[in-house]
Amino acid sequence: MGTEILTVENVAFRYAGTPVLRDVSLRVDAACTVAVTGANGSGKSTLLHLLAGVEQPAEGSVRRRAGCRLALLPQRTSGIDALPLTVAECVQIGRFRPRRRLDRDDRLAVGAILERLDLARLARRRLRELSGGQRQRALVAQALVQAADVFVLDEPTVGLDAESRRRVHDLLGERARAGAAVVYASHDTADATLADRTLRLPGAGDRTVADTTPLIRR
Ligand SMILES: Nc1ncnc2c1ncn2[C@@H]1O[C@H](COP(=O)(O)OP(=O)(O)OP(=O)(O)O)[C@@H](O)[C@H]1O
Ligand SMILES: [Mg+2]
Repeated sequence: MGTEILTVENVAFRYAGTPVLRDVSLRVDAACTVAVTGANGSGKSTLLHLLAGVEQPAEGSVRRRAGCRLALLPQRTSGIDALPLTVAECVQIGRFRPRRRLDRDDRLAVGAILERLDLARLARRRLRELSGGQRQRALVAQALVQAADVFVLDEPTVGLDAESRRRVHDLLGERARAGAAVVYASHDTADATLADRTLRLPGAGDRTVADTTPLIRR
């Protein structure tokens, strides 16, 4: 068996007939981080939705390795503010499994990620009472606490200060070194260069997409 966890081949996608992605191919391997970059509206979120199975391609194929567990951080998360969740509860949701209570490993994982993202002192605060960056860190924590084989994160560091961005990227690297595949969207070039590989989506007017070779190997 190869190391690929996600395979995208010659994918096209349209919203109500309007083309967004054309001929996109991408392979995402275990133990690898991939950044999807491109201008606003280039289709980064759409591609991540295809990877996660939230949307289906009009042409081409998206394959996920059988049985792979996928954690998704969407770009739009305003719905969660309607719930009276604390930071701790928000992160615990990442460990929920049907008909199972959280066990010791789950509690350790939650405690560890709260510390790593400097959220421990905010654990009892409600999400809706947080600053934008604090809230974003809680949502990143909910995604990264999951026992997943692939993490698909849409703009995980948006709105974060430099220290918080560093903490998130440290965690992404750790998840990859532990064997997971990590895909994240970012329109920030500095953010993207931290990944093992980048896929740059063309803006309007360009027609094809290049799956580029490694930029920087940490
Ligand atoms: N639900 C939708 N219905 C119709 N068009 C959509 C929908 N979602 C996105 N689009 C359009 O598809 C294109 C790609 O959107 P997408 O959200 O994937 O871009 P993006 O690269 O993630 O942008 P950003 O950097 O702003 O997050 C845009 O032109 C957008 O207007
Ligand atoms: Mg987007």
